[in-house]
Amino acid sequence: MPLSSNFCSKNIKAMWKGRFSQDTSSLVQQFGESISYDWRLFPQDIAGSIAHARGQLTAGLLNADEFAAIEGGLRGIEADIRAGKFEFKTSLEDIHMNIEAELTRRIGPPGAKLHTARSRNDQVATDTRLYCRCEIDGLSTAIRGLQLALLERAERYATTVIPGYTHLQRGQPVTAGHHFLAYVEMLERDQSRLADCRKRLNISPLGSGALAGSTINLDRHAIATELGFDGVTHNSMDAIADRDYIAELLFVMALCGAHLSRLSEDLILWCTSEFAFAALSDAHTTGSSLMPQKKNPDVCELTRGKTGRLVGNLMNLLVALKGLPLTYNRDLQEDKPPLFDSVDTLRLILAVNTELIAAMELREENCRRAASDPMLLATDLADYLVKSGMPFRHAHECVGKAVAESLRSGIPLDQLDFSALDPAFGTDAGAVFSLERALAARSNLGSPSIANVRAEIQRWQQILHQSSAL
Ligand code: ARG
Repeated sequence: MPLSSNFCSKNIKAMWKGRFSQDTSSLVQQFGESISYDWRLFPQDIAGSIAHARGQLTAGLLNADEFAAIEGGLRGIEADIRAGKFEFKTSLEDIHMNIEAELTRRIGPPGAKLHTARSRNDQVATDTRLYCRCEIDGLSTAIRGLQLALLERAERYATTVIPGYTHLQRGQPVTAGHHFLAYVEMLERDQSRLADCRKRLNISPLGSGALAGSTINLDRHAIATELGFDGVTHNSMDAIADRDYIAELLFVMALCGAHLSRLSEDLILWCTSEFAFAALSDAHTTGSSLMPQKKNPDVCELTRGKTGRLVGNLMNLLVALKGLPLTYNRDLQEDKPPLFDSVDTLRLILAVNTELIAAMELREENCRRAASDPMLLATDLADYLVKSGMPFRHAHECVGKAVAESLRSGIPLDQLDFSALDPAFGTDAGAVFSLERALAARSNLGSPSIANVRAEIQRWQQILHQSSAL
């Protein structure tokens, strides 16, 4: 990453200065520059320029020597940027003009031909699509890593019974394995949304020019193919104005963050003394400078907190887009800070949570104790009555009365004298309260019986190992 010392405020004449007689105010330069953040598009900008130059070569606009000079010059610039040896100039506004100006300084006249049949408008749209495509691939790999960590925890705790909650009140028994797999499933939807977004954005806007294409024809398809695009855009005005792909990606990232924020909230609860279901490792928790006993789940809290940024970044772009007339308006330059911020934030969230999940442990004794609450099987007792022919609504009422009696008398639900409560209860009603049987009975596809969870673990192992081998 280039250092800030690589930025210089020396005044270089802008490339569009021909019709102007006054210098640009330095405040305007400061206000309008994007090089301080769009420098990171340099690999995409250079790849786009080389493909464009090859299109010019094929069209006879460049000869082989000129093309070679451009390609060599651009590769040299790329190497210098990577080595931190390139000086970005704020007065040249953005990455596009910084690279082009330096190319011309290095190689002379052929450099000045590069911008033929191109505008910064189709250039920035191309760069950003390529950048999003690359980051989608990285995010997808990172999500895969987290899914694998969750899968490994699901396997480790496949038989650990915990209460499942609705309204944060104990509901019915599940296994921790089932709980972890819920997040694997959720993240798989994020994967498919990323893939979908990638498919839609992977078309080339190059050739759309400033807004109305160009009078100089380059082979758009060949250029697109060189850049790994699946096709080309079909309307130059839409291609220039379109930032849907950024909005989509910001949404997918915000939703993925929301998923991880929910996981964080589960873990925060599980790590309280009140729940005491889980322990995070020392490496992934922090202490208090005042209270010596504390072990705080800061990573989970920060994941929850940073998700606010991911949601905010999506709002940021949507608000910037909503009032823009076709086609390019400088407002569009504001698309990149939220995009870069969300990519950086989510990447870090995924990495740190993968570590945290891999190292977390369940306090199985506490889980089992909480799951042994007979109230968790009140629904099973109603199902028992249903199996003897009672309509469910009546069974619900009947068991509701038994629950009230248990609460009133202080006798645990599983120890009540059921036949005294209602003749519909047989002598075998108490057998309903075997946790093992109750869990095994949840054998419907998607339900948390241990056999099901094991089968799901195998299914996920195949899916995840297959796709991570790709
Ligand atoms: N830095 C600009 C951006 O990010 C590039 C396009 C500038 N185009 C223009 N017509 N001023 O949007």
